[in-house]
Amino acid sequence: MCGIIGYIGPKSLVPVLVEGLKKLEYRGYDSAGVAVVDGGAVSIRRVLGKIAVLEESLRADPLRGSYGLGHTRWATHGRPSETNAHPHIDCTGELVVVHNGIIENYLDLKKRLREEGHRFRTETDTEVIAHLIEKHFRGDLGAAVRTAAAELEGAFAVAAIASRDPRKIVVAKNGPPAVVGLGDGETIVSSDINPILVHTSKVVFLEDGEMAVIDGNGAKFTDFRGIPLDKKVETIGWNPLMIEKRGFKHFMLKEIFEQPEVIRDTLMGRVSLDAGEVLLDEIGLTEGVLAKVRRAVVIACGTSYHAGLAGQIFLETLAKIPASVEYASEFRYRDFLMDKETLVVVISQSGETADTLAALRASKPRCAAVVAVTNAVSSSIAREAHGVLYTHAGPEIGVAATKTFTAQMTALALLALDLGQKRGALEAKDVLGILEEMQRLPHKVERVLSRAKDVEDLAARFVSFSHFLYLGRWVSFPAALEGALKLKEISYIHAEAYAGGEMKHGPIALIDEKMPTLVVVPKDRVYEKMLSNIAEIKARAGYILAVAGEADAEIARHVDVVLPVPEVHPLLSPFLTVVPLQLFAYDIAAKRGADVDQPRNLAKSVTVE
Ligand code: AGP
Repeated sequence: MCGIIGYIGPKSLVPVLVEGLKKLEYRGYDSAGVAVVDGGAVSIRRVLGKIAVLEESLRADPLRGSYGLGHTRWATHGRPSETNAHPHIDCTGELVVVHNGIIENYLDLKKRLREEGHRFRTETDTEVIAHLIEKHFRGDLGAAVRTAAAELEGAFAVAAIASRDPRKIVVAKNGPPAVVGLGDGETIVSSDINPILVHTSKVVFLEDGEMAVIDGNGAKFTDFRGIPLDKKVETIGWNPLMIEKRGFKHFMLKEIFEQPEVIRDTLMGRVSLDAGEVLLDEIGLTEGVLAKVRRAVVIACGTSYHAGLAGQIFLETLAKIPASVEYASEFRYRDFLMDKETLVVVISQSGETADTLAALRASKPRCAAVVAVTNAVSSSIAREAHGVLYTHAGPEIGVAATKTFTAQMTALALLALDLGQKRGALEAKDVLGILEEMQRLPHKVERVLSRAKDVEDLAARFVSFSHFLYLGRWVSFPAALEGALKLKEISYIHAEAYAGGEMKHGPIALIDEKMPTLVVVPKDRVYEKMLSNIAEIKARAGYILAVAGEADAEIARHVDVVLPVPEVHPLLSPFLTVVPLQLFAYDIAAKRGADVDQPRNLAKSVTVE
């Protein structure tokens, strides 16, 4: 899941490429590079490590050019190294490519090209693309890329330049995202909109099998057969400031503190308290489709999967629809059974996760409708679903998802209320009750955030621990899973989450003085059951930290530490209980000096399998 960028225009090139790569760095950050063309000569600089290393190298030994490419890498083929870093070149060194994706037939192509005399320098799949374009190059870079693209199997968003067809960038998409920004006398191509926003809000999203030939005056769009395309230019409402840290030490902490606003923004314009109604016509599901729905299948990965687990409970309890939740990476290879009475809900903050996109495509022809819950305007998943429910969380830069989890739960609760209402499973007064509680969530989350210092002080006592167990039941199970995932992702500490009732079937064997347990235990239908689990841990001298209701006078007698959250409707407790868990993970990671926003081995958007 790399980040690619290309720029052609009047601005000083290298700073544009480097600043752009910084905004793409969350996509992969093990190595980076740029290629610039100056008076027909191509210069390349690659480094092992982060954009800061590249920036330092360019400061020490500057490059100049009038147009060029950049890349930040998340290694798939070939270990992170300067040699394997992008951009990659052909035999002449005058044709250069950057690539995001995986070329599945690269070994066959490499063998053939080698037999034809091409010399390879790296272990990567990407280098094959440069030599394949070289093979077909007859002076027209667009034509050569088109021919090469037809021979590539797998996922690719690739951008190419060639000094023998100057002042042109050619980009082709098949799978991973590629966006073209149309500025005033300048054109940018990128893996996502973040680097483009500082230059223009006018963008064109390429679809699979499409390409663009870019020069300083704009772009010409065709498909892989060369047929011209009249592409829609979209205007993005996000402003560049939204992707700044605003004084916070890390994007993740900023994004945790943005959650009250995110809930408000995701509820905005979708709630009518007067009518006790949810207004979700934007999804575009007809009454006919809704009436047909007999079950729901929720499909996602990672944190979005955890939001899906909360969504499952919302759908069952509010819409009275049987619902299942599936890992997209498993679902797409199962012989799943689904019919025209099945509503599929796919959840993805980035809207580009390859497994979720594939699961969407596999289920689309076989279900009643696919609704996408996503944060990324016009992302592949948004474009391909039957209906879209956008989470209005704004750009999320920290690799560990936080505010988008909360925004997804907000959207899923609204969807469940809407389905419940439209299917007559819920009366207006029931809907109103939940909606009024949801309107109060932002303030309650602010109250949890106002105790962030207490969580920080607590976390300081646990920085040196190597194992944590997280437990929750019913709606608190997704919150526990999310807490454990956050700790794993950013602090590299081993953490496991279990449904409380599952603990005695194995995980309880892990309990000892070196394995603290975080229990999520708000007052709800399973509270007493959680108290029994707590007693089972205490009986084995386990140390317990509990996220519990602030009015709960009882819990403190059963556990060692309480992280209090305001009282709330039982169904909505994950909105509050997840926040101390996010902060706890953040504080431990920050105190351990971890790279909180860009944890090792991870990437923000997983666009390959
Ligand atoms: C969560 O912190 C991770 N970044 C990861 O698990 C993520 O949730 C997963 O890759 C799914 O991403 P998506 O929501 O963009 O599809």
